[in-house]
Amino acid sequence: MATKDTSVFQLNNGIEIPGVGLGTWQSKEQEVYDAVMTAIKAGYKHIDTAWIYGNEEVIGRAIKDSGVNRKDLFITTKLWGTYHRDPAKNLDESLKKLNLDYVDLYLMHWPTPFDPVAASPFPKDDKGIDHEWSFVKTWELMQQLPKDKVKSIGVSNFSIKQLEELLNAPTTKEVPAANQIEAHPYLPQNKLLEYCKSKNIVVEAYSPLGSTNSGILEDQIIKRLAQKYSVSGAQILISWAIWRETVVLPKSVTPSRVISNFETVELSDKDGEAINNISTRKRFVTPPWPDNNLFHDGDN
Ligand code: A2P
Repeated sequence: MATKDTSVFQLNNGIEIPGVGLGTWQSKEQEVYDAVMTAIKAGYKHIDTAWIYGNEEVIGRAIKDSGVNRKDLFITTKLWGTYHRDPAKNLDESLKKLNLDYVDLYLMHWPTPFDPVAASPFPKDDKGIDHEWSFVKTWELMQQLPKDKVKSIGVSNFSIKQLEELLNAPTTKEVPAANQIEAHPYLPQNKLLEYCKSKNIVVEAYSPLGSTNSGILEDQIIKRLAQKYSVSGAQILISWAIWRETVVLPKSVTPSRVISNFETVELSDKDGEAINNISTRKRFVTPPWPDNNLFHDGDN
């Protein structure tokens, strides 16, 4: 039987991060307000958002209205590409929208810096990429963010190649606490996971259900295990993410799913490994801008 998840992982600065967090990408205003309220009531302590999602204000309102003590929550938001040259500014904007004094984790959303004065936050072509800047310089600035505003800093959508470049840079003094990546049974990214573990970087799995219409929930192995453990397919996927020691961020705006996604089972190693083998190496989330220097799936 599935029970409320209690897993926590330790970041490389000693801070604890709850294993299951609510994903909020593509969650709209009223929907996300209700989802956050439902989640906190169900026992979630971890909410994941980003400046670009455009829902920080509503999430901040829901957090406040939930009445829960701020220090009992773990809130993550992310630096957008157009602000790589000024993370402090983007962070302040996010804090203001969230109506919070600090976030628990601040992530560089993508390794790619964008033209900081572009009219749109999404580059249309290569001209929208800020080739004079680099994620190494962005990280240098992120390390200087006030510790009373960000408890931990990390990255997102970084490949092994990019992490190596970052860790080997002379300006890098802090190892990212986390790397948030697309991860689910069809894209387990085992090499990247092993690499991150070896560097003491916690992996956070976004789109753990394969986002929308991936078909993973209809996979025969997932269905068989769901039957075996008397849980839903989504609960198997979320439990598998915990089994392989990744933070997992299922997104839902459906109250019953928000609640059930927080309930997990302990998978046996044999069953966890069986899921490892169903990979089709299929990526469901790709950015809407042209970028030839992302993912490096052959290496990951
Ligand atoms: P909805 O938000 O309407 O509930 P991911 O976290 O991989 O990005 O997946 C999000 C998608 O999966 C959304 O379409 C979400 O729909 C759906 N979803 C979330 N939880 C479940 C669940 N327990 N069972 C089936 N689909 C789910």
